[in-house]
Amino acid sequence: MKRKSQLLILFAIVLNIYSQQIPAYLNSEINIDERIEDALSRMTLEEKVAMCHAQSRFSSPGVPRLGIPELWLADGPNGVREEIVWDDWITAKQTNDSCTAFPVLTSLAATWNPDLAYEYGKALGEEARYREKDVILGPGVNIYRTPLNGRNFEYMGEDPYLASKLCVPYIKGVQTNGVAACIKHFAANNQEINRNSINVNISNRALHEIYFPAFKAAVQEGKVWTLMGAYNKLNGQFSCHNNFLLNKVLKEKWQFDGVVISDWGGTHNTAEAAENGLDLEMGSHVTVVAPFTPGVYNSFYLANEYLKGIKDKKYSEEKLNDKVRRLLKLNFRTAMNINKPFGSINTTEHSQVALSIAEESIVLLKNENSILPLDFNTIKTVAVIGDNATRSFSKGGGSAGVKAKYEVTPLAGIKTNFPKSVEILYAQGYNDKSSSLKAELLKESLDIAKRADVVIFIGGLNKNANQECEGKDRASYDLPYAQEFLISEIKNVNKNIVFVNISGSGVAMPWVNNVKGALQAWYMGSEAGNAIAKVLTGQVNPSGKLPFSVPFKLEDCGAHSFDSLAYPGNSTDVYYKEDILVGYRWFDTKKIPVNFSFGHGLSYSTFEYGKIKANKTLLQRGDSINISLSIKNNSSVLGSEVVQLYIRDLKSTFIRPYKELKSFHKIKLAPGKSESVDFSISESDLQFYNDIDNKFEAENGEFEVLIGSSSNNIRQKIKFKLQ
Ligand code: BGC
Repeated sequence: MKRKSQLLILFAIVLNIYSQQIPAYLNSEINIDERIEDALSRMTLEEKVAMCHAQSRFSSPGVPRLGIPELWLADGPNGVREEIVWDDWITAKQTNDSCTAFPVLTSLAATWNPDLAYEYGKALGEEARYREKDVILGPGVNIYRTPLNGRNFEYMGEDPYLASKLCVPYIKGVQTNGVAACIKHFAANNQEINRNSINVNISNRALHEIYFPAFKAAVQEGKVWTLMGAYNKLNGQFSCHNNFLLNKVLKEKWQFDGVVISDWGGTHNTAEAAENGLDLEMGSHVTVVAPFTPGVYNSFYLANEYLKGIKDKKYSEEKLNDKVRRLLKLNFRTAMNINKPFGSINTTEHSQVALSIAEESIVLLKNENSILPLDFNTIKTVAVIGDNATRSFSKGGGSAGVKAKYEVTPLAGIKTNFPKSVEILYAQGYNDKSSSLKAELLKESLDIAKRADVVIFIGGLNKNANQECEGKDRASYDLPYAQEFLISEIKNVNKNIVFVNISGSGVAMPWVNNVKGALQAWYMGSEAGNAIAKVLTGQVNPSGKLPFSVPFKLEDCGAHSFDSLAYPGNSTDVYYKEDILVGYRWFDTKKIPVNFSFGHGLSYSTFEYGKIKANKTLLQRGDSINISLSIKNNSSVLGSEVVQLYIRDLKSTFIRPYKELKSFHKIKLAPGKSESVDFSISESDLQFYNDIDNKFEAENGEFEVLIGSSSNNIRQKIKFKLQ
């Protein structure tokens, strides 16, 4: 189909050259807005309406008569999804649609490295381009409100600033390929329970301070070409045709010039879809009489009923023209972009990008007596225990699952990267069939643990239903399948345990006292096992930092501190009662201790934070303050540190979080070397959203800059005044 449409363009061009009249819309030398107006003026009403809805599960029609090609979309966000059949979700059974599986976005967020985010987007965009996709359905930036959200692993953690800083370069990387990124899901899609109908009751302030910033940055800084609406309702109206979200905020306030795409099946009625800012309707529920059902897409909300409504003057044609202009612009930016590269797939460069991200994202949570990196002078036998050691995680979990060309499992990575002289034993330990431990699995584990110098326990969650997957939230905050019990049993026979937790969200870790070392790893795609093994051996010095807090217990979280109306809601509504106090903003403000704090991550190096300096202590509006300090690597190994800057408003009329992340730098330092790290702070870093006056503002008064290696490990502070 895709090839057919390219032939159509070619045909149209040749015809026009032959008749010496290249229409403006086909002439890439001409300004894009003129081309759009020219194309629009040639289109019939029927052709315009046809552009606004799907023609298959993952494509929308162009205008065949004018040689304007189809648009092809694909998930996203961590690899180009396998091909499925025209009308259904089932695999097309192709043999040429495997891809590089990149680490999930929580893993990217844990790198705290915007340069890597660009590399990620660029490599993903190249694969999408090669597969002839025009839109890649990512990144996802829904905020981590509760550890139970089944899709946390697809998103970038609990902090809006961190998510903003990483989604912008990702988008730019994707779009250099002539492939549109699609920021999703707008907005407040923070749980999977009742996701298709739940009405999120939320304040404007929480939206502007917590749930909007990454979307706003994607639009204004990343210049993202498409955005996907969320399934849920927001303050009474479905997000995919929510007047406030799409017309008022996105298009009027933020000046988004791209296409709003519905989530698949997220459109619910024609009148709102027509008027409230939706441009392209995808995935509405149609009865499929497989394998191909001509005409079925005419029953979409933005299809025949919409056409009739326009003819009857019920819906505005000007609004339709606005949608079509946006869709044409998207087409010129992608499918009809004659400068787009060819792309590439499964290259060694892409594997290297996947590996670098995975390596930089692993978080060293705990390292008692420097059990890591493993010392192979004394370690001769290693017991690897855990079901996750031999699992592949790229497939499954919902729409973000990909068909990886290859995936190195943790056990395979260990076998390849550990010295050949080391004996490696393996036991499954537990399985995903049972919540209690089978006697023979336990015995096998204890047998090998007794024989080993160190136990590497590879566990966590696994993308099964209720263990992090789309469509369902997690059943519990605890580790599943009796892993906790298994650890305590292993400890009785071998105290040298390193736990590698594979998950996309935090888990309860009462067992952490039973292990000497703990790593937070993620679903890290093709190179997962190599990255884990390299951190264990010290070939890679860990530098990941947690993109979310890990509380001791679920009830400590803001969303879980109220009644069930705050989570998961009743059958119709959920109320965000914690408001702006999400993640560390809640724990800090309420003085609730956490197991591991936001921004936490150890290294095999130690870093010394020098004295903080500011060039002034009085900030005038419109001006900025320069803050600097020097960081020294005090160890004998090369290492990277993420220096985090938080700001605290010491006195305010309105409630404010205790502190908020406003800047960070990741620096790499050779042993013994130091470097100055510079920050600049201006009024916008001090603001909150005043939802009485509906604007961001900062109050005069005293503020404090807190610089640390995590949100709970503040090393330097300095005060200043805003005047
Ligand atoms: C998901 C989206 C995804 C779409 C297409 C939906 O169910 O919420 O994130 O892009 O399906 O697969």
